[in-house]
Amino acid sequence: MKILRVSCSPRGQASESYRLSQRIVGFLLKSEPTATLIDRVVGDGAIAHIDAPYAVSQHSSVDMSQEGSASCSNELIRELESSDVVVIATPMHNFTVPSTLKAWIDHVVRVRRTFNVSPEGKIGMLRDRPVFVAVSSGGRYSGERARQPDFLTPYLKAVLGIIGLHDLTFFSVQGAAFGPDAVAEARTRTDQALQNYFSSFRL
Ligand SMILES: Cc1cc2nc3c(=O)[nH]c(=O)nc-3n(C[C@H](O)[C@H](O)[C@H](O)COP(=O)(O)O)c2cc1C
Repeated sequence: MKILRVSCSPRGQASESYRLSQRIVGFLLKSEPTATLIDRVVGDGAIAHIDAPYAVSQHSSVDMSQEGSASCSNELIRELESSDVVVIATPMHNFTVPSTLKAWIDHVVRVRRTFNVSPEGKIGMLRDRPVFVAVSSGGRYSGERARQPDFLTPYLKAVLGIIGLHDLTFFSVQGAAFGPDAVAEARTRTDQALQNYFSSFRL
């Protein structure tokens, strides 16, 4: 079994979303001790924005190039295709995903490769698999104490759905900007949710 983790915070391993993803990976490895973990770090801006030939290819009937973004896209898609479980560690930035995660998405949501276009709309080409999303946010975006919109959750559901990934489960540590007590409270609540979820989780 292969676990692909995509970590998207500019704070790397010091980030709250990475910390939460570590908890998720820990539960996955407990249920599948022989699983391998592939770490794809994008939070440092390692993935460039897409180039012109790639952009043209997305609305053409053939690829314009196999170099540049297409080559990066090939590598990222192969990595995604060969995974059995995906863990995305991401902060909320401006109500949605950080631009580093968006850059990864632009490379893996690719016509003729991960989705096809039909008169009925886009059809995903990837085999479905569990995707865990570990989110950290400064404020709160769900529950009674939410004071901001959430474009992150619906966006990830929609965009990953296009390529065939529908089995998404979200965990979050919200309110990280409200001080250590708020973080401790959020971590405890999320830990409980993780334990409840993984007590009956089987791959
Ligand atoms: C550019 C930027 C935009 C942000 N926008 C939001 C936001 O819209 N909502 C929110 O709750 N927090 C926002 N934050 C705060 C982060 O979500 C918060 O610090 C989070 O805990 C960071 O997670 P990390 O440690 O995994 O990077 C923003 C932070 C940055 C740097």
